[in-house]
Amino acid sequence: MGLTPHNAANLGDIAETILLPGDPLRAKFIAENFLENAVEYNTVRGMYGYTGYYKGKRISVQGTGMGGPSMGIYSYELIHFYGVKNLIRIGSAGALNSNLKIHDIVIGMAACTDSNYGSQYNLPGTFAPIASFELVKKAHDIALEKGITPVVGNIFSSDVFYNDGGLDALKSWSKMNVLAVEMEAAALYMNAARAGVNALCMLTISDLPFEGIATTAMERQTAFTKMMEIALELA
Ligand code: ADE
Repeated sequence: MGLTPHNAANLGDIAETILLPGDPLRAKFIAENFLENAVEYNTVRGMYGYTGYYKGKRISVQGTGMGGPSMGIYSYELIHFYGVKNLIRIGSAGALNSNLKIHDIVIGMAACTDSNYGSQYNLPGTFAPIASFELVKKAHDIALEKGITPVVGNIFSSDVFYNDGGLDALKSWSKMNVLAVEMEAAALYMNAARAGVNALCMLTISDLPFEGIATTAMERQTAFTKMMEIALELA
């Protein structure tokens, strides 16, 4: 059953707005702690997906896995097979800007990448993957109302977590005032652009690569809650 090899949901099982954490267990956590009447629509490959209600609004939440290819598959299927219109990634990132601290929230206005994902579009140049302005603005407004000041700007979606060249590549992106490194936003933004739907990537800073500082999985869980509440309000 299900409409795709990766998703057991049937048409109508998934809401028009979806939150996309990389970690499927985080999707489960959100469904169990924040959604009312949540129904689990997918467990294929452990990539849990749920649809429920937040303050009366129907919303879904599903894991995407790590990296552009995994995000590429899940977001494509959500858009093209299930009719999803607003895709909001909620993830973690390493800070590339020295003003950012652990647990700060970054909104990815655009996503640079070292990935070849965009080559499929055969463009006569380089595509600039960007977020939906409407979602950026709404997320920023909601954050301010909650007393949180997110940093809005460029992010870097990397294909490589363990880089043979060490920190050199990250230093180059940092020099271009790119705020943070993660691995999925560029593929999400490109799929959304191609399909004419809305996408946003919101990030919590989980590590400071240049200082060799990282948070534990448990610490990330708590910090993540602030960002998740902004994302849920967006729906
Ligand atoms: N996600 C969180 N921290 C990251 C890092 N340092 N590089 C890539 N993705 C990340």
